[in-house]
Amino acid sequence: MWWLKDVWVIDPSQKISSPQNVLVQGGQVMEISPSLTEEEVLAKAQGESVETINGKGKFLFPGLIDVHTHLREPGQEDKEDILSGSRAAVRGGITAIMAMANTVPVIDNRSLVEFVRLQGERANYARVYPIGTVTKGMQGVELVEMADMKEGGAVAFSDDGKNIQNAEMMRLALEYAKLTGLPIISHCEDKELSGEGLMRRGIPSTRMGLRGIPASAESVIVARDLLLVEETKGKLHLAHISTKESVELIRRAKARGVDVTAEVNPHHLIFCDEEITITNTDLKVNPPLGMPADREALIEGLRDGTLDIIATDHAPHTQAEKARPFAEAPFGIASLETALSAVWQHLVVPRRLSLDRVIEAWSYAPAKRFGLRGGTLKPGAPADMVLFDPDFAEIIEPATLVSKARNTPFLGKTLQGFPVMVWVNGRLVQRNRTVL
Ligand code: DOR
Ligand code: ZN
Repeated sequence: MWWLKDVWVIDPSQKISSPQNVLVQGGQVMEISPSLTEEEVLAKAQGESVETINGKGKFLFPGLIDVHTHLREPGQEDKEDILSGSRAAVRGGITAIMAMANTVPVIDNRSLVEFVRLQGERANYARVYPIGTVTKGMQGVELVEMADMKEGGAVAFSDDGKNIQNAEMMRLALEYAKLTGLPIISHCEDKELSGEGLMRRGIPSTRMGLRGIPASAESVIVARDLLLVEETKGKLHLAHISTKESVELIRRAKARGVDVTAEVNPHHLIFCDEEITITNTDLKVNPPLGMPADREALIEGLRDGTLDIIATDHAPHTQAEKARPFAEAPFGIASLETALSAVWQHLVVPRRLSLDRVIEAWSYAPAKRFGLRGGTLKPGAPADMVLFDPDFAEIIEPATLVSKARNTPFLGKTLQGFPVMVWVNGRLVQRNRTVL
């Protein structure tokens, strides 16, 4: 049994944000109480040994659930695989991940869904939930067997990495997915508008002579998909929202009662286009980093609930790929191990966001939207938990990263505020920054 003593518990599912004592037994949260004596704990343990952790000065919250993670297995295991990715996740305080379907081959049938699920179970670190594609081969032409893939363990459908350009195909997907009750996750990008663009179109892109992507490349499809989900009464989740126009469109759709949730990535909340340099591809990401006004709108949208979910969009790539010239390097930031710390340091410490809101958006909201276990420390819930030390500082360096990827803008930098103990199903999987 675990006894976490005098720890500041944040659990938005129970509206708890106060010092508590937490008991964990048999893989589950057993009790949360503001005061517990040693005698009481020993009586509850009934002879079982008790490991006591002094939680003073630290936070305990439900493990993060990351709804947008690229694990690259099958097919691109040089970038990442399910074992390395799920270890990186728990190192970063993430106890469950939804694995994106744009692998090689793409996850477009039940046996591939089952493969991802079983590899996740074999790895036995973060829980791994497969996402299936929407269309066969991610070609945007023919729908997958959604019901069959749900049987195999798919929790959502997405052609992420690519937009479904044909509006009728998107409409059909929303209509058919209703039979499964699962959401369609949309990567909103009008390919005609984004073209061969490399970063957001604006003064920095012009100055560097890098081809630009207009903000409308995203917002046009956000508007389309909101109209389609309203008409079909389907279930839509919008991935990686990055423009102020998108935030406003979602805000208005929600006011009309449309069944939509939207996600924002830490990098869009922290960085902007002005920070990109042509000699460093770490900030080359899709959708591209927006302008400062976009970043402000995203933070405001997350605060007021227009944006529901924080997700990493962990997109690992090899060093060789990211070392190419800016125009040729792949899009993506690897972030499982640094995202929570970066959000803490760049947004919570400066009081742009509360930690309570961050945990709600990164744990409770994902569990609710995708019907997953966890996201709560209610007694009886699986003990997927994070002990977070706001004072723990660490230099981000290759020797300590457990992800195979190094494409993070934080490499060589110091971050402060890290998970120092992480449990999945009551099993300790990370202690003092080491994955067990
Ligand atoms: O930056 C990105 N990388 N955006 C995407 O949509 C896909 C992802 C990837 O798969 O690398
Ligand atoms: Zn995407």
